[in-house]
Amino acid sequence: MQLMEKSMEQGLATSTKSVAVKMLPTFVDSVPNGTELFDHIADCMAKFMEENNLKDAPKLPLGFTFSFPCEQDGLTKGKLVTWTKGFKASGVEGADVVTLLRDACHRRKDIDIDVVALLNDTVGTLMACAFQENSCQIGVIVGTGTNACYMERLERIPKLAGYVDEHGVTPEEMIINTEWGAFGDDGALDFLRTKWDDAVDRESINPGQHLYEKMISGMYMGECARVVLEDLAKQGLLFGGHSDAISVPHCFPTKFVSEIDSDLLEDDDRTFQKTYQILEDIGVEMITANDCANVAYVCSLISTRAAHLTAAGIAMLLNRINKKHVTVGVDGSVYRFHPTYPTLLDAKIAELIVGDIEYKLMLSEDGSGRGAALVAAVATRLKEEKLA
Ligand code: GLC
Repeated sequence: MQLMEKSMEQGLATSTKSVAVKMLPTFVDSVPNGTELFDHIADCMAKFMEENNLKDAPKLPLGFTFSFPCEQDGLTKGKLVTWTKGFKASGVEGADVVTLLRDACHRRKDIDIDVVALLNDTVGTLMACAFQENSCQIGVIVGTGTNACYMERLERIPKLAGYVDEHGVTPEEMIINTEWGAFGDDGALDFLRTKWDDAVDRESINPGQHLYEKMISGMYMGECARVVLEDLAKQGLLFGGHSDAISVPHCFPTKFVSEIDSDLLEDDDRTFQKTYQILEDIGVEMITANDCANVAYVCSLISTRAAHLTAAGIAMLLNRINKKHVTVGVDGSVYRFHPTYPTLLDAKIAELIVGDIEYKLMLSEDGSGRGAALVAAVATRLKEEKLA
């Protein structure tokens, strides 16, 4: 250690011609502190404005969809509570993400953007859906993560008692971002979580957090199936006991679960061709026809459980809102691309609602983006009316 440090000191000295260890300055003088995330977003906006000839337009109002839990105390203020879904940039938790984005825009100097609304992706989904169908009261995402928001009556929100908006008015209702992904983090779901759920959680970037999400969403469904298959292989119940290939973490993404589920759906002769192909590609040795059928069965159980757990959440909200006609706006890759998930979800909700509630699930494609634009448009109109 001492010898090396001495050599390094020599390299750092003023004259370094004959030194062994060169110690070359790189002129990179700071490390990312996490807020560069926001510089990247500003960069994307600048590119978008360039491509759409908007760079010279007067100050553009922006609806900012930020798909993470934010503690908001206004439409344009929100502190990130915690990162979810595998994100982990330092210096952002606890900070106001609107300020971070504004600062990033100011740093560039070439774009003039006014952040007029901050919203969760579920809220965007609800708003976009409500624009087409005004009975929409619930917005749900089942994608990388899962979450829901819904229209709640103010009298049922004790923590907002006495709330008046900037016009001195107490609104009758407000959209609540539930952040239901964290359901179970206090032990409420322990009675149905399995040892495989524990394994998925333990290996995740945020152990003990977002446990409901980890049983449902696209980021985890494949891994959930994989740990079950690994266990079965280790017990000698699959692949002739060969478990090496299936033991590689994350080698079985959620899209495999979707593809294998579509084998079950489309393949009348039960040849499980896709399933066989996937297992072979992963490098599994000794795949029998029985193995394929069992792997497909495991995948279908994981998908069904995910759909049923989500259905429980949506049906609870429908029962709570208790209105005659309610539309539920839904978006996210699992809902959009999984072959059986939407049907399983719908059927289970129908079983779980009480009374004569009628509901409709409505795909709200890129709802979070379109919804943000709508909220921005409304916020701008109100601002202009106030100025006039
Ligand atoms: C995670 C986030 C939540 C978001 C959801 C869907 O659960 O915490 O804010 O709505 O993913 O993207």
